[in-house]
Amino acid sequence: MKTYTNVKDLGDLNAAIQEALEVKKNRFGYKHLGENKTLLMVFFNSSLRTRLSTQKAGMNLGMNTMVLDINQGAWKLETERGVIMDGDKTEHLLEAIPVMGCYCDIIGVRAFAQFENKQDDYEEKILNQFIKYSGRPVFSMEAATGHPLQAFADLITIEEYKKTARPKVVLTWAPHPKALPQAVPNSFADFMNEADVDFVITHPEGYELDPKFVRGAKVEYDQDKALAGADFVYAKNWAAYTDPNYGQILSKDRAWTVSTEKMALTNNAYFMHCLPVRRNMIVTDDVIESPQSIVVQEAANREISAQTVIKRMLESL
Ligand code: CP
Repeated sequence: MKTYTNVKDLGDLNAAIQEALEVKKNRFGYKHLGENKTLLMVFFNSSLRTRLSTQKAGMNLGMNTMVLDINQGAWKLETERGVIMDGDKTEHLLEAIPVMGCYCDIIGVRAFAQFENKQDDYEEKILNQFIKYSGRPVFSMEAATGHPLQAFADLITIEEYKKTARPKVVLTWAPHPKALPQAVPNSFADFMNEADVDFVITHPEGYELDPKFVRGAKVEYDQDKALAGADFVYAKNWAAYTDPNYGQILSKDRAWTVSTEKMALTNNAYFMHCLPVRRNMIVTDDVIESPQSIVVQEAANREISAQTVIKRMLESL
């Protein structure tokens, strides 16, 4: 595996899930693969889970791990070609990336959507420059349009908790005070559309996601109807994708907050969220603290999804 940005990079999805479950059972059994190999994790944005779980995954595989926070201690980077660099940016990404590649064997990159230019975000301008210029295998640690390590962990978690062969999985928009990227719902849809689940997306009108990720999923604008009979409820906020509202907040309607009343419509569903989560905006205290909440188990599986991806990259060096 040379890149990991979406579900297709995993190939056979069932085989990937089985491999991940093997990794989970024997997470220190592959240490030889990472001996004298270095993982570089580059963060343009903050993180708790991704930083810790990916570093742990690298260590489980016997790798040395290095973390670079671009906005804390590194030179400020220019990302556009042709810019006269007489401002506050000291170094260009086009030199910085191959230099970073000199010091490591595999690179993980976190670079969120900036909501300044939809085309730049949806062309994954920063992530793709790492893929093109680093000379190393590159995986996304949440980029502008996708969070495939999260979605893989979500799928592993659904596999572990499902009670029927083909569970109903509902992705529901929920309110949030800030404009958030579509990366998590995009990747969740990308994965669920390839998994053996009955997948439904629900959101207020105006929050339609990129059709490239929605594909054949059922979209239901009535949240209560969508939640009926659900086995898994996956809550997430995102800002508008469709023009002319790209990156805008169109609603903060707390009638969409996942509450005990909403969960009562489901088939005793498990509650999922990628975290961090805003309580009593996205989900009530009662729901997230209930026995049906599997948000911590989901976060724990971030170590497993990362380890499975890095393992495959080590195997292909
Ligand atoms: N879910 C997730 O990616 O968490 P962090 O932003 O804390 O890494």
